[in-house]
Amino acid sequence: MENISCAKPFLKWAGGKKQLLIEFNKRLPNYLKENGSISRYVEPFVGGGAMFFYLKKHYIIKESILLDINRELVIAYKVIKNDHKSLVSILLDIEEDHLNMDEDGRKENYYKIRDVYNQELPGFDFSNYNKQWIERTSYLIFMNKTCFNGLFRQNKKGEFNVPFGLYKNPKICDVTNIELVNKALKDTEIICADFRASEMYIKQDTFVYMDPPYRPLTTTSNFTNYSKDGFNDFDQVNLASFFKKLDKKGAYLMLSNSDPKNEDINDNFFDKLYNGYNINRVKAKRNINRDASGRGIINELIVRNY
Ligand SMILES: C[S@@+](CC[C@H](N)C(=O)[O-])C[C@H]1O[C@@H](n2cnc3c(N)ncnc32)[C@H](O)[C@@H]1O
Repeated sequence: MENISCAKPFLKWAGGKKQLLIEFNKRLPNYLKENGSISRYVEPFVGGGAMFFYLKKHYIIKESILLDINRELVIAYKVIKNDHKSLVSILLDIEEDHLNMDEDGRKENYYKIRDVYNQELPGFDFSNYNKQWIERTSYLIFMNKTCFNGLFRQNKKGEFNVPFGLYKNPKICDVTNIELVNKALKDTEIICADFRASEMYIKQDTFVYMDPPYRPLTTTSNFTNYSKDGFNDFDQVNLASFFKKLDKKGAYLMLSNSDPKNEDINDNFFDKLYNGYNINRVKAKRNINRDASGRGIINELIVRNY
């Protein structure tokens, strides 16, 4: 199969699925593996898009619909789709300025840009495509490449609140990858919405991959709060109902989540929710907890309706 795209995620995103792609690939629907192509792919919780970019690299996808509730993320995808050259030009300037500074200067520069980013939030027009989106996306990418751990995290007001991170020579503008992402987004629609809005795009034979925010591994973990909106057990239950609804439509469905049995072997939350479907447990490195005790090998769940 000819590689049609080598794009990779342009942002580091909490819950990114890079390390699980091989396991997902083994479990793709047979028709996709045999034909090497699908007519429609839908990803309702796209985040950094590790699976989308992987599929674009190895298969032919005629059209894709990507959704996420995070407005900052969605405008970034749209800017790369519509205006990647202007974005690159702004980002290259930011990169040059930043890398010419000493450590204290870089720190000051980071907080200056973070302040501008947060101050323009009230009243920012996320609904209608406009030129301000390009600058905002350049700030988002800059902060993603220079903040602590490369995370995206917002406080309750929706402000970006990750501190400065120490990097020797951060690659702020990966021109080649931004160009590849731009190409990968051709024939792709990007929508800022709750996962339920994806229903109208899903029909028989559509392949759908769902990677919702993790159910917390421990009661103290707050890493499920990707956006100020959060995602709780009630949402997980609603998602399972949604999964059943899509199953009836004849779509091919794959869903991943962390396995609560990592913490409590008797926790059957997902086994009950997805009872009757194909549930696999695969090994993954836990790497989103900051403290060393949180690192280690854990199980990840893959649920499929085929
Ligand atoms: C686990 S992350 C997805 C990570 C992605 N698979 C990757 O490789 O980067 C979950 C995503 O779901 C989004 N999200 C949270 N609640 C949502 C909702 N109700 N509807 C749609 N997206 C939601 C978050 O903004 C986040 O980007």
